[in-house]
Amino acid sequence: MSKSIKTNNMILVILFSFANFVIPVTILNSAVADEKAVELIKEVKLEALSQDLAKVGRAVFVAKCSACHKREERYVGPALKDVTKRRKPEWIMNMILHPAEMIQTDETAIELFGTYLVPMTFQNVSQDEARQILEFFRYADEKGEADITPPQKVDPDKKKADGGKKKTGDAKKKK
Ligand code: HEC
Repeated sequence: MSKSIKTNNMILVILFSFANFVIPVTILNSAVADEKAVELIKEVKLEALSQDLAKVGRAVFVAKCSACHKREERYVGPALKDVTKRRKPEWIMNMILHPAEMIQTDETAIELFGTYLVPMTFQNVSQDEARQILEFFRYADEKGEADITPPQKVDPDKKKADGGKKKTGDAKKKK
């Protein structure tokens, strides 16, 4: 009698540990499946160049990409000049929005990763921002950057000249 209780307990223990194993594995698999479900962009419809869009794209690029990319020379990542001549617009958008997916599945991206050895990371850009950056690349590759680069805000000479009288308004603002 007591032997059969022991056996029953044993079976329960085995079932319990099995469940503990199976449940996390199931959760893990579904997480991996979700990651795989990334949908790459298949088609980008290009219209006439937009200088406005390119300007916004340039600002996003400076904020989110310039830590690793320059246009003219290799940096952490490739020089991006003429990237619109060597890659399709969809490919560029996908590289910006899903770099991890791309360097695992796309032949060209895998090759680049083999050369640069650093994985490009997702910079939290929205699809709209990626499109703006693409427009910046298109514009710069076709017409150069001059007329989408904002004028330098601080003119060093002027700054020096104004230096003395700068603080006038500040006294009133203080509590
Ligand atoms: C952490 C550094 C890093 C950041 C930040 C980064 N990249 Fe990259 N990028 C790389 C590297 C490295 C590669 C080469 C592929 C690889 O190794 O993953 C690359 C490849 C690319 C390519 C393909 C270039 C080619 O010659 O085909 C494009 C386009 C690109 N990046 C655009 C961007 C844009 C746009 C941003 C900002 C949203 C950005 N990258 C942010 C490192 C970075």
